[in-house]
Amino acid sequence: MSSLAKLLVFTLLSAAVASSKDAAYPSGYGDEPGICLGSSGEPKPSRREIYEGGEIFDITHQYTPNTPSGVSDDGAGEILRLLMSMKNGSDYNLSELKLCVHAGTHVDAPGHMYQNYFDQGFDVDTLDLRVLNGPTLVVDVPRDKNLTAEVMKSLNIPRGVKRVLFRTLNTDRRLMWKKGFDTSYVGFMEDGAQWLVDNTDIKLVGIDYLSVAAYDDLITAHLVFHKSREIILVEGLNLEGIELGIYGVHCLPLRLVGAEGSPIRCILIK
Ligand SMILES: *[C@@H]1O[C@H](CO)[C@@H](O)[C@H](O)[C@H]1NC(C)=O
Ligand SMILES: *[C@@H]1O[C@H](CO)[C@@H](O)[C@H](O)[C@H]1NC(C)=O
Ligand SMILES: *[C@@H]1O[C@H](CO)[C@@H](O)[C@H](O)[C@H]1NC(C)=O
Repeated sequence: MSSLAKLLVFTLLSAAVASSKDAAYPSGYGDEPGICLGSSGEPKPSRREIYEGGEIFDITHQYTPNTPSGVSDDGAGEILRLLMSMKNGSDYNLSELKLCVHAGTHVDAPGHMYQNYFDQGFDVDTLDLRVLNGPTLVVDVPRDKNLTAEVMKSLNIPRGVKRVLFRTLNTDRRLMWKKGFDTSYVGFMEDGAQWLVDNTDIKLVGIDYLSVAAYDDLITAHLVFHKSREIILVEGLNLEGIELGIYGVHCLPLRLVGAEGSPIRCILIK
């Protein structure tokens, strides 16, 4: 066990047995209000993208029945189903999740478009968390073009930059807020993907619609990115209102063994 894990276990155990007079942890921790109060004092759930002072930005979209999905014009549909319901006399509520792994904010694994990688087990559980977490650039791209080699070159992304989140016309058009799949989104053309592979050190490519590859090059551009199995594609990000610049990005997929995609929670920390 790492010393951090030991400390954590120790802290939790101490907290469980500690009386108020010999505190197991310094005061102050846990004092932050976790819930907001409504006007009549009842607890009110808080939903937000930007946390106090703009230190944390949630760049994940909410998952709802209207969340767009590449395989449907009708959105993700009923993704939650209550199996047990208190309203029906059960002692608790208990839901089941049914979600296309390429709906909403999600990540692709190499097995998405290479059968051999799928067969070899290169699923989302094998994605490198060091690539999915670390310094990132958020960039704006020209609004009148897809991401061609020429556009990529014009962005002048320096060597050494390993993660880039591309904000495009998709954000201006708010495509992720529309439940129907819109094939006119902006994405990488095959030559743009190849240019990135050949001329940059980028290993994490993030984009603001369901596919990093433009619809006309849907398969070919994905193949270019996934070929080395070193580049991770995060799709369907919410980059609205995010200032361009450098952040720490933290993305965590679910450990879905055998899946070529997964919902992913991504945040930026200033
Ligand atoms: C409650 O039970 C009724 C009757 O079995 C069923 O139609 C309904 O869907 C249930 N509702 C929930 C939320 O489980
Ligand atoms: C339990 O499920 C019901 C729907 O059957 C819902 O209205 C209620 O808010 C849920 N309660 C909790 C505590 O989540
Ligand atoms: C990008 O390509 C798609 C087809 O793949 C097209 O519908 C769309 O108009 C293009 N967008 C721009 C800004 O050129």
